[in-house]
Amino acid sequence: MIAPSLPLAPVVFIIFMALLPTLLSAQKLHNVDMRDLTAAGQLSDDSKDVRISPAKIALLHMVNDVWFFRELSEVVLRNKRRYATRHSYEMVVHTPYETTGLFTPADCTEPSVTRRVTDGNCFKKKTDFKLDERAPTFGKIKLALDACVGRPDYWLLWTDADAMIVNQTVSLLDIVDDAYDVIVTHDWFMLNAGVMLYRCSPWNIQFLQRVYDARQFDKALALDQSAFNDFFTKDEQVKPHVKNVPKHLINVYTEEYRPGDFILHFAGKLYEATPWGITDIARQFDVLSRVDDVEKISHFFSTRYLLNYFSGTCVMGPPDKDPKRDCDPFDDRRLKLPEPLIAMSYPNRYRQLEYRNPRMKDWKDPYDVPGATDIKVRRHVHSS
Ligand SMILES: *[C@@H]1O[C@H](CO)[C@@H](O)[C@H](O)[C@H]1NC(C)=O
Repeated sequence: MIAPSLPLAPVVFIIFMALLPTLLSAQKLHNVDMRDLTAAGQLSDDSKDVRISPAKIALLHMVNDVWFFRELSEVVLRNKRRYATRHSYEMVVHTPYETTGLFTPADCTEPSVTRRVTDGNCFKKKTDFKLDERAPTFGKIKLALDACVGRPDYWLLWTDADAMIVNQTVSLLDIVDDAYDVIVTHDWFMLNAGVMLYRCSPWNIQFLQRVYDARQFDKALALDQSAFNDFFTKDEQVKPHVKNVPKHLINVYTEEYRPGDFILHFAGKLYEATPWGITDIARQFDVLSRVDDVEKISHFFSTRYLLNYFSGTCVMGPPDKDPKRDCDPFDDRRLKLPEPLIAMSYPNRYRQLEYRNPRMKDWKDPYDVPGATDIKVRRHVHSS
């Protein structure tokens, strides 16, 4: 937990709220309610989720029927759809309201066939995905396996329901590496399964099935994450298939965010900020994800003035004691925050650890080393 004395927490909120009206009016962001939920469901219908992605990339989003994820998932799902559309990636979605983007093999002469893969196999839509009777978080493995049906050699970007794409200009083609089958990150605790990339390779399909079948992890502290952690760090046969990348490349936690970052993961924030708080934070970052110029985001995180450089309140004494009555932008009497927001992640991206776990305060990402993001086998996109 972040110590209550941390000065930034309330300030983050105030600043965001102050900026929000401007951004909202510029971006015409709509309030989210249940009607929008239906509309969002329709967006994904038919034609859209059967179009083959030229890059052979699909995004996965899954949420089960728990009230505290409902609104957050809606905000985050729209954010991911916007990103997928921009880059022509496919979407695989499973929520209590819809299952879209899955296929099942079909006879090529059937009229219901919606997808033909170059290897001559045909597929039709599958809508009956169900989670098994075990912790729902294992469902991500089941969904990934199903998502690989009709998607040979695709890369799947798994992101938890509390993760979103803040920098929507980043192409996954600059991250995926066909020399591997899985791309993952680690935090100070263990592997983090909230954001991962899996390739629908024959090896990986077998591997994911093996992880799914390892029922001893039903009782593990971190469930599927413990399972992946064990396989990736202990199994010598598995290791060469796994690319460990710097955490900030694909899996930045809230306090670690720096303008320009790609995927933001609100890990643990559901508990810290409450379901309402985390949804507000997600909406605010979704607004930033609509801005393509990182400079426009940077200024916001760099100011110490309340509420910004030019509107900062000027604190004046009574006229007899403080005769100077005008207040230019650089006047010392303007209220300033002790630190700008960016101080939380700059120069030390993991400063949050100082508050969370003082023993870990000097933690360094072991995979944030020169060359760690180099791509050995780059995926080429063939225009079809
Ligand atoms: C997104 O990332 C790219 C590559 O790192 C960077 O050049 C760009 O400024 C970022 N944009 C935003 C809006 O964060």
